[in-house]
Amino acid sequence: MRRAPESKALDRNLTLELARVTERAAVAAARWRGRGDEMSADQAAVDAMRSELNRLAIRGRVVIGEGERDAVPMLFIGEEVGAKTGPKVDLAVAPLEGSTLCAKDMPGAISIVAVAAAGSLLYAPDVYMDKIAIGPGYSKGIVDLDNEPGANIEALARAKGVGPRDITVCILDRPRHAELISKCRQAGAGVRLISDGDVAGIIFTAEPAETGVDMYLGQGGAPEGVLAAGALRCVGGQMQGRLMLDTSAKIARAASMGVTDPKKKYDTSELASGDVIVCATGVTDGPLLDGVIFDKGVIETETLVYRSSTGTVRRIRAEHRAPAKFEIE
Ligand code: FBP
Repeated sequence: MRRAPESKALDRNLTLELARVTERAAVAAARWRGRGDEMSADQAAVDAMRSELNRLAIRGRVVIGEGERDAVPMLFIGEEVGAKTGPKVDLAVAPLEGSTLCAKDMPGAISIVAVAAAGSLLYAPDVYMDKIAIGPGYSKGIVDLDNEPGANIEALARAKGVGPRDITVCILDRPRHAELISKCRQAGAGVRLISDGDVAGIIFTAEPAETGVDMYLGQGGAPEGVLAAGALRCVGGQMQGRLMLDTSAKIARAASMGVTDPKKKYDTSELASGDVIVCATGVTDGPLLDGVIFDKGVIETETLVYRSSTGTVRRIRAEHRAPAKFEIE
């Protein structure tokens, strides 16, 4: 599922080039904010991201994308992107992560892309992944996916120097998480429920002072887990994930992507190893990023760019004064 990672760091200019990719996808999606049409919002983001990716000096291959080649017209798994010059890289893309949030104009929709040295992202099938994540500054292994939620909350509280009641856990609001939510509350923690968008939910833990979230728990998309792990790795956060392979069809699908142990617990650097750059732009307002603002003659965006080789986090507020350039060609 993973080829030998290249040790060479990715071109640092890519860090800034990538911002254009998610900015453009976010603006395209934001045109569909609040219009109740997930499909059109997603398609607009896909078209915009693809056209911008094809300007980059990379020889890229989508390893986490919109789906299989036959099922989706663009940014499918295996699609080659880039200007076909420059380094060979793998890409994980979510042109619109949280399409329902965008369609309902609710907080937390983002456009996100991870670029990594070829072979360094887990090829995750489109199944659920059980996930735990915490931010930077903690010793390795203080929480574990296989521990009870209460034990993880206590351990994190102790390490943070606070009580369990000062810990906030972010969880997707789903019936499947009812027991998890109740266990976290019994342990004294507060629970931040999100209706969608667990890539952002996990990245919240990277900036607890800003987002108020200390830990992420629960089951969400596996591809989303790989994207979020890339960002967490850049800042020294920790994540573990286990694919939820509960049918023989899913086990076979995962095996065809190279997963030999269906019960394996992956850690951050197994989900995203090697050099990785992760870039995310807000579509709707959220705790992590402001959404796109359309004003007279100006479009404003906010973007976060993470780079693993240096640990640099850039927050880029851009005012685009040529709004016509954002219309799809
Ligand atoms: P989309 O952007 O594809 O709608 O995904 C949103 C999302 O909330 C992800 O962030 C999350 O991992 C997944 O869906 C959860 O799946 P489900 O809605 O089946 O619980």
